[in-house]
Amino acid sequence: MRVPLVAGNWKMNLLLAEARALLGVLRDEVDRLPRGRVEVAVCPAAPYLFPVAKALDGSSISFGAQNLYHEPAGAFTGEVSAAMIRDCGARWVILGHSERRHTIGHLEDDRMINLKLRAARGAGLTPILCVGETLAERERGATDDVLTFQLRAALVNAPIQSGQDLVIAYEPVWAIGTGRNATPDQAQTAHAHLRAELRRTLAGAGDPTAAGAIASTVRILYGGSVKPDNAAEIFSQPDVDGGLIGGASLKGASFVGIVRAALAAAG
Ligand code: PGA
Repeated sequence: MRVPLVAGNWKMNLLLAEARALLGVLRDEVDRLPRGRVEVAVCPAAPYLFPVAKALDGSSISFGAQNLYHEPAGAFTGEVSAAMIRDCGARWVILGHSERRHTIGHLEDDRMINLKLRAARGAGLTPILCVGETLAERERGATDDVLTFQLRAALVNAPIQSGQDLVIAYEPVWAIGTGRNATPDQAQTAHAHLRAELRRTLAGAGDPTAAGAIASTVRILYGGSVKPDNAAEIFSQPDVDGGLIGGASLKGASFVGIVRAALAAAG
């Protein structure tokens, strides 16, 4: 029912020649897979959105940005709008990534992430909304509360009318780039919680039947130290619909290995 999505978050990696070489490998492998059974996307740094669009011309692989600024236009030096990203042909935008919430320069709060999500939807981009708890929050038993709060805050007044309007990525902060992935059980528990909360949040904003239908079709990706050798087990969980992949998306062989694991898990 939900086609798995495997999205590569390149972060601030790969110069253009390296990106083109990687995309060449991905096109060779991914475009030969059965159509419609798995979706694959890459998210390059902003200056490469347009060259990546060209390099992916005619491919089934889609692409997205890693961030946007919520204002439509104006005096915002250094920022990139949702419409600009869409204009480059992007389909996705990663929002609320933990590196932006917790580690980069001026930190992003939930209100800012909500403004960005609404700007993305307004421009026709599908947000890949990242949520996740820190290790301290997990250890004090606050995981569910943190996920509920982040999800609800991001979706205030957001126009989510179908399962295609949103992707959620559960990314426990303690698992990102650490080599320590969540266990399949931990991932499933968090994903099931997020799906139930999504249904409640959307029902609170409108028709409960429609909310149920949307929540059951929104894809919830797992992200945090996914590798070809742990992907199959994580993706086999019923509420895990693919992955958001950082380090392992930078090499053709490992990213393709993860895409194949998603395809196999989809049955
Ligand atoms: P990682 O990053 O796969 O390198 O842990 C995941 C992410 O940050 O989206």
